[in-house]
Amino acid sequence: MAQGVDSLFRPVGTSAIQFCPGCQSAYSELTAEPVCQSCGGLFEIRNPAPADSAGQALTGQALKQHFARDPGAQTLGLGSGVWRYENMVMPGAGSAIVSHPEGNTPLLSREALARYTGCDGLLLKHEGHNPTGSFKDRGMTVGVTQAVRIGATAVACASTGNTSASLAAYAAQAGIPGLVFVPAGQVALGKMMQTLSYGARTLIVRGDFDDCLRLVQRVATQLGVYLLNSINPYRLEGQKTIMLELLQQLAWEAPDFIVLPAGNLGNTSAFGKALREAHALGLISRLPRLVAVQADGASPFARSFREGFATRYKVVAHTVATAIKIGNPASHDRARQAIEENNGLVLSATDEEILAAKVAIDASGVGCEPASAASVAGVRQLVHAGIMQAHHRVVAVLTGHVLKDPGILTRIHQETEPPPHGANRPIEIDADVRAVERILTGFAPAP
Ligand code: F0G
Repeated sequence: MAQGVDSLFRPVGTSAIQFCPGCQSAYSELTAEPVCQSCGGLFEIRNPAPADSAGQALTGQALKQHFARDPGAQTLGLGSGVWRYENMVMPGAGSAIVSHPEGNTPLLSREALARYTGCDGLLLKHEGHNPTGSFKDRGMTVGVTQAVRIGATAVACASTGNTSASLAAYAAQAGIPGLVFVPAGQVALGKMMQTLSYGARTLIVRGDFDDCLRLVQRVATQLGVYLLNSINPYRLEGQKTIMLELLQQLAWEAPDFIVLPAGNLGNTSAFGKALREAHALGLISRLPRLVAVQADGASPFARSFREGFATRYKVVAHTVATAIKIGNPASHDRARQAIEENNGLVLSATDEEILAAKVAIDASGVGCEPASAASVAGVRQLVHAGIMQAHHRVVAVLTGHVLKDPGILTRIHQETEPPPHGANRPIEIDADVRAVERILTGFAPAP
């Protein structure tokens, strides 16, 4: 199972390749083909083994020291939590880097959420702290840098909203036209407005995300637009840094569990690749258990997992968590590898569980968008099932910012009758101190 450096990396001093694990074909690192031309499989990046500027291979302690250097002193991605790991992400990027910067997101702990989940050691890796408010920026800085390297004339993606917001921002920075395909009526308001504001040409497709993804793949192949969905292997190289950064924040001591929301399964795949490489390079000595959490109404991967991955399913997706409303996840195979290699689990949570977890996360002062809360709902389930113990060290990844989906917040806090659990109704008053006093006395502890 555990692979060595030699099988995961190319020799120091060579260039990266785009490799098809399905048929073992190797392509130049600069090919713009969205998938393998021989078998249609998805590419993965094989980088040269990490080395310092003098060409000395770096592993273990030396590599940790390399990553501990002041990130501000490195490359063009000044202060970026992605480009700090440049020699494991895209060693050949050089002056092409398009960085906001991004990454360097916090690991949070909150008493209220430890109580809510029953897990004392719960930490939250909040990717909503990225520049466009989701983890997508980590993959997009690398994807758009690659677009610059190959001289792409336009970049495109299908999206449930976060990828499109991120693509729009990075394409604007790079000066490359961006084209996004979003499902009609199924994208949260904050994401849609970001995408429009940053200037991507936005096509609202009469269909769902899975229709959008099929369409953009045809567009990429037939019209020569560079595809930046997470089937693009460079996106995953960037997203690996969520894992590398959280491991570094934990002094390279892997936690017991890492839990993340799952939709198209790009992030689950990226986490698997990061763990495989970190283990082979001696950055960590043991692997955490990896837990992917889907929404019940969009859980083909969880169903497949329950059946020992005997069958790959497609469903018509339904969930309040629009970010993960995906019925035919593109990265199924590589996510399966990630789960299998890390003694992983795939769960699903109902919309009620997701929203209850979101309300708890919001009320703790942390806040996140609905899909992100699937990870915390998953932690709660595992504690209740006795699989996770109170003392376990657990990192739940929050993938997006609370303001991404103001529609759901309006429903919870202002519209739904009777007010749901956790609703915080605003109170309209006259401009009068007495009115405020009456409200304050409501806060006073009972005499
Ligand atoms: N959480 C959020 C907030 C997301 O936006 C997404 C995916 C996921 C989790 C799931 O990640 O697809 O790698 O399994 N959003 C994509 C988008 C599909 O278009 O923004 P995944």
